Amino acid sequence: MKQLDLTIILAAGEGTRMKSKTPKVLHEIAGRPLIEHVLYATAPLNAKEVRLVVGAARELVEARVSSAFPEATFILQEQRNGTGHAVQLAMDGAPHIGTVLVLAGDTPLLTSVTLQEFFDAHVGLGADASVLTAFTPDAFGYGRIVRDDEGNLSKIVEERDADPLEKEIDEINTGVYLFDIAALRTALAGLKSGNSQGELYLTDVIELMKAASQSVIAIRSNDYTETLGVNDRSQLAECAAIMRDRINDAIMRTGVTIIDPTTTWIDLSVEVERDVSIYPGSAILGATKIASGAVIGPRTTLENSSVGPGASIIESRVADSEVGAGATVGPFSFIRPGTVLAADAKVGAYVEVKNSSIGAGSKVPHLSYVGDATIGSGTNIGAATIFVNYDGVDKHQTVIGNDVRIGSDTMLVAPVTVGDGAYTAAGSVITDDVPAGSIGVARAKQRNVLGWVLRKRAGTKSAESARKAGAADGPSKVQGEA
Ligand code: UD1
Ligand code: CA
Repeated sequence: MKQLDLTIILAAGEGTRMKSKTPKVLHEIAGRPLIEHVLYATAPLNAKEVRLVVGAARELVEARVSSAFPEATFILQEQRNGTGHAVQLAMDGAPHIGTVLVLAGDTPLLTSVTLQEFFDAHVGLGADASVLTAFTPDAFGYGRIVRDDEGNLSKIVEERDADPLEKEIDEINTGVYLFDIAALRTALAGLKSGNSQGELYLTDVIELMKAASQSVIAIRSNDYTETLGVNDRSQLAECAAIMRDRINDAIMRTGVTIIDPTTTWIDLSVEVERDVSIYPGSAILGATKIASGAVIGPRTTLENSSVGPGASIIESRVADSEVGAGATVGPFSFIRPGTVLAADAKVGAYVEVKNSSIGAGSKVPHLSYVGDATIGSGTNIGAATIFVNYDGVDKHQTVIGNDVRIGSDTMLVAPVTVGDGAYTAAGSVITDDVPAGSIGVARAKQRNVLGWVLRKRAGTKSAESARKAGAADGPSKVQGEA
């Protein structure tokens, strides 16, 4: 069984048309930079060596690629003198015999299956050079595959160098090639820059190899979408949409319901178990795992989080957190990094939780902020409670025990502890610990100034209604004062 000796990925281009500070090959689709899609697609071919030709923003590209593919090596192309020049540089110090795969770093949709079939065909036919080609509905901008009367590959012509008849050819060069290393080396030495761009074109090796009586073949791929390249933001979006559909199809085939695949964006790194339901407008990103039976969305974003079996998260955002089995979140809540919701916990509507753990079956049903807190099990946090964790300089912890009842609109001024089974009175500002089994009451006692509206707001609708209800005028009298 023949093995691939070398893979060369061309990625020195500036990606000018992206109009970006970020180098083109580091733009992401499905949570992965373009260049990594290419590296993952080529990985199963198991080349003995992988070389990337880098130029523009090389430090950024090298740093990113090295973390996922530490064995890849980098060749610097200082002057961008064409694809032929880039391959010349990459061949410096490469093995002298064997097979090399050459492709571009901006074609994120290529699959391992297609590359493996291409490799097998190249080896099976015993070719010295093979070019992967495709029929496209819009060939504009691509190199065209020129075939002779017998249908054999004779050369590749770039758009800018093509005559009107050649421009009508709809079979294009995908920019993916396999070469016999020794034959390629000889042909590269003969490249000339006599073309419209004054560059060394890799594509010209085809004619040179033919002239040297080497066997050169064109192998058609049957899905042109795999070979789409990214040159601008609109092509980035086009490729991202194709990738999204592929990911969603694969996930649905494992037994997951996706109500509207066109508005559901799932990164390649996400794991979804069967019988999960995902509603429209949701994004599931990063290292997120969703267990069986969970319900996600609509309009929910999950990032680097785990969701337990049967949990539900509706119209909410969850980042770097854990949502336990059967727990519920939303609608309209924000779970920030470091949060752990235990089994059957509930975070209801308009609640923000940060760096906190909420125990089994505990509830924060409405309009609250929970920050830097540990909450036990079976506890209820009344509506509009605020965990006052920030004194303007430092953040402090709040500890709430089991089966606690925090009254609505309580301010828990951290650091503070509320013991097991304790209560707080609604509207309290709790600055001191509340021992187990106590109720903390920290609010002014109410007083009613009788007849105040009749005296101070005379002539208003309020005064009129009060009089009808029997409210008495007369000298000021206060109810409830000691
Ligand atoms: C190239 C092919 C064209 C093919 C198309 C497929 C040539 C001359 N043309 O055209 O036949 O249809 O790809 O997408 O090869 N690069 C370098 N160094 C350079 C020049 C380019 O590393 O000096 C890299 C680019 O970063 C890119 C790849 O090579 O990843 C292709 O270069 P690009 O300029 O995009 O070539 P195309 O015009 O698309
Ligand atoms: Ca290109």
